[in-house]
Amino acid sequence: MQVHAPIIEHRRIADDIFLLTLSVPDIAGSAEPGQFIHIKCGSSFDPLLRRPFSLSMIDKEAGNISVIYEVRGRGTKILSTCPVGQTLDIMGPLGSSFSISHISPQSGAVLVGGGIGAPPMASLAQALIGKGLKRVTVLLGAASKEKLLPEEIFTRTGAEVLIATDDGSAGYQGFVTELLPSQVSGGEVGTPVVFACGPEGMLKAVGSFCLSNGIPCQLSLESVMACGVGACQGCVCRVLRRGSVEYVRVCTEGPVFDAGEVIWDD
Ligand code: FES
Repeated sequence: MQVHAPIIEHRRIADDIFLLTLSVPDIAGSAEPGQFIHIKCGSSFDPLLRRPFSLSMIDKEAGNISVIYEVRGRGTKILSTCPVGQTLDIMGPLGSSFSISHISPQSGAVLVGGGIGAPPMASLAQALIGKGLKRVTVLLGAASKEKLLPEEIFTRTGAEVLIATDDGSAGYQGFVTELLPSQVSGGEVGTPVVFACGPEGMLKAVGSFCLSNGIPCQLSLESVMACGVGACQGCVCRVLRRGSVEYVRVCTEGPVFDAGEVIWDD
């Protein structure tokens, strides 16, 4: 659906990274973790294209949704100047969501979020804990402390958070994927389910590790998107389904896929 939604919160939370909350009950009511909204960042036709943003928080009761974004170009630069009270033209909820209905409350879940790809892990953690999962761990990675999302965005869902930065300025020094093996070794909740969202290299590493170890894993792919609704074919990727290679659109059939079906370009 396309609606005009008022901004009720908009603030900088890290280096060039902003939290934006919109009051939009119709979208909040039907949105699920993993889905995204498409925001028209400027007035009139500048910039022409909308920008996709994953949902970092879904408050169905209050009718609010939040996104977290980094200023990377003209669209997000304009968006970052929009004040509380302004209305934004948004479409959503769009795309597929993480599949969690089959997960038992006795299971654990490990959520791997890298860089500005990490925000949907907050809404996912919120949903998993809402389902009664006893152990939900977020592995939160960033290049440095300055680019790290505030830990509190994830801990307030009830999840445990472990941090890794490439330069060691916060938490473990190294890639966030290096924290994964110790978190999936079983224990009281058995082998957990893994979810990941972040840069392609991270997704490849998480997917490959989980496939080699027989761990169920869902990946949220990042893609450049133009229309966001399946019309332009600009976000096509390849997946393996029923033994055949299929071309699918990240914006409609995705962005969430099982790790075993994603075919990576070399
Ligand atoms: Fe146009 Fe996906 S962005 S088809």
